[in-house]
Amino acid sequence: MIGVFDSGYGGLTILQSIRAQLPQYDYIYLGDNARAPYGSRSFDVVYDYTLQCVKFLFDKGCHLVILACNTASAKALRTIQQHDLPLIDPDRRVLGVIRPTVEIIDSLTQTRHIGIVATEGTVQSQSYIAEISKLFSDIVVAQQACPLWVPLIENSEHNTQGADFFIEKYLHELYCQDPQIDTIILGCTHYPLIKDKIEFFARQIWQHDMNIVAQGNIVAHSLDDYLHRHKELAQQVLDAKISEDAKSQCLYYTTENTEKFNANAHLFLNEQINARQAHIIQ
Ligand code: DGL
Repeated sequence: MIGVFDSGYGGLTILQSIRAQLPQYDYIYLGDNARAPYGSRSFDVVYDYTLQCVKFLFDKGCHLVILACNTASAKALRTIQQHDLPLIDPDRRVLGVIRPTVEIIDSLTQTRHIGIVATEGTVQSQSYIAEISKLFSDIVVAQQACPLWVPLIENSEHNTQGADFFIEKYLHELYCQDPQIDTIILGCTHYPLIKDKIEFFARQIWQHDMNIVAQGNIVAHSLDDYLHRHKELAQQVLDAKISEDAKSQCLYYTTENTEKFNANAHLFLNEQINARQAHIIQ
């Protein structure tokens, strides 16, 4: 089993791509919906919540956990990898979504000017800036925090005129930072749900087609590659399959009300699910 974690529903966009690319594995998804959004929470709080959720997924038998959340990847991943994993179990792995995205950024842009839209937490962490400058120091990066997008999506209000106002507003602020951008990275796993709208408003603002990049396939590819290079871990993940069934199984957990989760997750996955209650919050 592979654990996939997000503060809420956004990680389902990553889960979908991973399952399509790697159907031989089983999955456990955990959404910490009761405490979402994480985007404007402090470093310490995001780290504490994320560690609790990672431990929950370990306890369920996952040897590998993907933080399918940029905010958690930016604020908690490194500490968990360096400080907590050696104490919990050095053989288990936790991976994030920022590094795989940055690794292929070079192939996405012609102007070498990139925009990152993300939560306040991800922007303030400067994780994208730091990672990109290590690998591709010539790429110019502008970041734009979009604090209202996640609450609009978590509350299913993203297809409204009110949402349009805030989608255009933040993109316009990004344009004012750098009109030469030709690629916008959706640096938050919730944003693929409003990708069409982002595409539409970006074309209006920049007056040309914009390359809008969602992370699902990028993360799925990178994970596939990682598991090829780490055969022992891949075998442990396979050995922990939920059932003998060859078809990929997925269990869903939420810290919020399960019926609410089932109804909203439907928007992301287009399939009926039956989530279980995760008792994490004391
Ligand atoms: N989906 C998460 C991300 O990728 C964050 C959403 C939130 O909880 O603010 O950053």
